Formats: sequence, C-alpha cells, structure tokens
Amino acid sequence: MEREYAQFFDVFIKVSKAIHTGGNTTEILERIVTHISDILSAKGCIFWIVDRGQKTIKNKISHGFSYRNLAEIDYETLMAIFDQQGKDCIHIEDATTDSRIPNLDKIGKKRVGSIHALFFEIVRDYHGILALYFRDTRALTPAEEEIVRALGEQGAIALQKSLSFDEKMLDTLRQIVEGFTLALEAKDEQTHGHSVRVANFAMSIARRMGLTDAQTETIYHGGLLHDIGKIGMNDQILERLGILNRKEMDIVRQHPLIGARITQPLVFLSDVEPLIRHHHERWDGTGYPDGLKGKDIPLGARILTVCDAFETMLAGRKHFAKMKLEDAIVNLQLGAASQFDPEIVLVLFDILEEQPEIAGATQASVSCIQIHKRRLKNNQARKSSSLFI
Ligand SMILES: [Fe+2]
Ligand SMILES: [Fe+2]
Repeated sequence: MEREYAQFFDVFIKVSKAIHTGGNTTEILERIVTHISDILSAKGCIFWIVDRGQKTIKNKISHGFSYRNLAEIDYETLMAIFDQQGKDCIHIEDATTDSRIPNLDKIGKKRVGSIHALFFEIVRDYHGILALYFRDTRALTPAEEEIVRALGEQGAIALQKSLSFDEKMLDTLRQIVEGFTLALEAKDEQTHGHSVRVANFAMSIARRMGLTDAQTETIYHGGLLHDIGKIGMNDQILERLGILNRKEMDIVRQHPLIGARITQPLVFLSDVEPLIRHHHERWDGTGYPDGLKGKDIPLGARILTVCDAFETMLAGRKHFAKMKLEDAIVNLQLGAASQFDPEIVLVLFDILEEQPEIAGATQASVSCIQIHKRRLKNNQARKSSSLFI
C-alpha cells in the first residue's frame, strides 16, 4: 500500500497543479482515470459526466480495457446499473452474475469481475460517476477507496471550475448579442421588438422539438440577430418594405450575407452565423442567398424562417397592415412545403393550440388552428409567394 500511496500523492499533486493553473479539463480527467487504473491495477476506469435534469450523458472519459459496451451505454442503462439511492458508492462484486448488468454478452460482462462506482456532485444537475472495473472479483480496501474518492473529487473540482468559466463566457456572449439586437432595433421604430419576438417563438419551437439547451440557445440568438445585416442599410429603403422596387429589393436581399459577414469574425457566434445567412432560404429551394432546399437548410434557419414570417404578419409594417391571427395561420399553412418546412409549421400550430395566449389567440383562432393543422397533416399545402424579405 505504501507504493500506491506514494503514487497517489504524486498524481494528486500533479492534478491539483493542473487544476489551479487552468489546465485542460479533459486532459485532467484523462490523467485521473489513467492513474486510478494504474495505481489499483484495474482493467479500466470511466468517468461519466451526467446531467440529471436533462437525463443525458454530457461526456465520458475512459482508460484501459475498452469494455466498449459499458462505455457506450445510454443514460437510462447507466442510471439503472449505478442506481445511487442515496449511497456514495456502489460495489458490484461479480459482473458476470449481477442482475444490475443487463444483457451479459452485449456489454462484454464475461470479461469483467468486480465493478466499483463512486458518485460526485459537480454543479447544478451535473454529477460525476466514476467506475473502475477489475478482471477478477475484488473489493476496494478503505484506503483504496479513499484514493479513488480523492482523485475523483479533483475531477469534480476541475469540472466545477470549467463549467463556471463557461457560464461566465455565456453571460458575456448573451450581453453582446443583446447589445447587437438593441442597436438594430433602435434604428427602426416599426420593427421594434421584432427580433425578440422571433427569438421567443423560435425558442418555443426548439424546445417543443426536444432540441438540447445549447441548440435552443443558438436558435434564440439566431432569432435576435437574424436581421443584423440590416443595420447598415438605408432607413428609407427599410421603411418601404412591402412596396420596394426591384433595385431596392436587391439591396435588402443582401442582409443575410451582410449579417453573416458581421458575425463571421466572432468565433463564439460560429453556430449562429449559418442561421443568419440562411433565414430567407425556402423549403422548395427558391429562396436566397444560396437557394438551399429542404433539409439542406440548417434546422435553426428553417425555424427562424417560419417565426420571422409569422411575426411579420402579426405585427405588420408601414406599407402592409397587420394580419389577424387566423389569416397568418392560413398563410403559414399555404406556405408549408413551398416556403416553410411543413413539420415546423405543424410544431408552431401545436404550440399555438396549447398556448394560444402567446399570440393573443381567441377561441375562434384556436378552431382555425385546428382546421389548418388537419389540412397540413393531409398534405394539402399549396405554393404561396413570399411577402417577407
Ligand atoms: Fe430577414
Ligand atoms: Fe426578420
């Protein structure tokens, strides 16, 4: 045990140093799982980072015998095997016979004896599960368990540090995006609030479609920034939306490309840039700037197209009156499969049916939504021309 302790202290010091000097978190975790395997002569070690709120595995770092199928299990299986129930560790004496390990052959159970897992709190819903497995059946001594726990805690600390740094970065990003949005909307009284409303509709659709938090946030930012390319445009042209001549139309049609160019140097907006560039593509491929078609258009951009048109119809502009919700619904249904991704229109209809208040729907408009949802489902969508640029 003396040799193990000497090794442990050496590793502990190196890991602590790496954490305090802001070392790369993945490398720190790799070092931890590698050294735990070495010190305790385990076949392998895996550190899972799970989000218990979202019920997903966020990341996993492994070392040693691949025990491939254990490393590849999904969240539900992982939680079933390591069902914590208030304990701070779980010991599976013999994986070949233990009922917690499902489907023996599938997870390579025959080649593994004991499995020992420890649990760590990280931040919010993030938790760590550190599992080490041995060729034979064996338990950890209290001293060995202490070593694993101490190194595992170091991993949790490294994660806490990096996640709170990510949080700070995200806050800065949010402030920058909001600043851009305010700058754009301050320009034009009649479009005031347009970007925020588009972003809110888009966020509801993304959530309803079960997208991840990160994807939803990207789409929300895409909503806030989609028209940022209009920021340098002549106010008189923007005021004439709805009655533009050909030449003016060509100028306004530049705004997705200008917007993409504005955001392109900002690395943290790299996921948002394609949404800005493609928010005027059409499902049938006749949109701009690239004439992308169907699912070649990024999903976030397809969501924004629907929300942009919907918000514009409801709010109106100087040269075209705002529409009643029922008329906007009809237009969306008619534009599905030509201008819009029909699945996204359907998701918006579902949301409006369940939360009519978000668009000020009356009972009559709810019936209208139901009728057009049926029509959409029956694939009766027809082509409609685009009013919205
Ligand atoms: Fe636009
Ligand atoms: Fe817009």
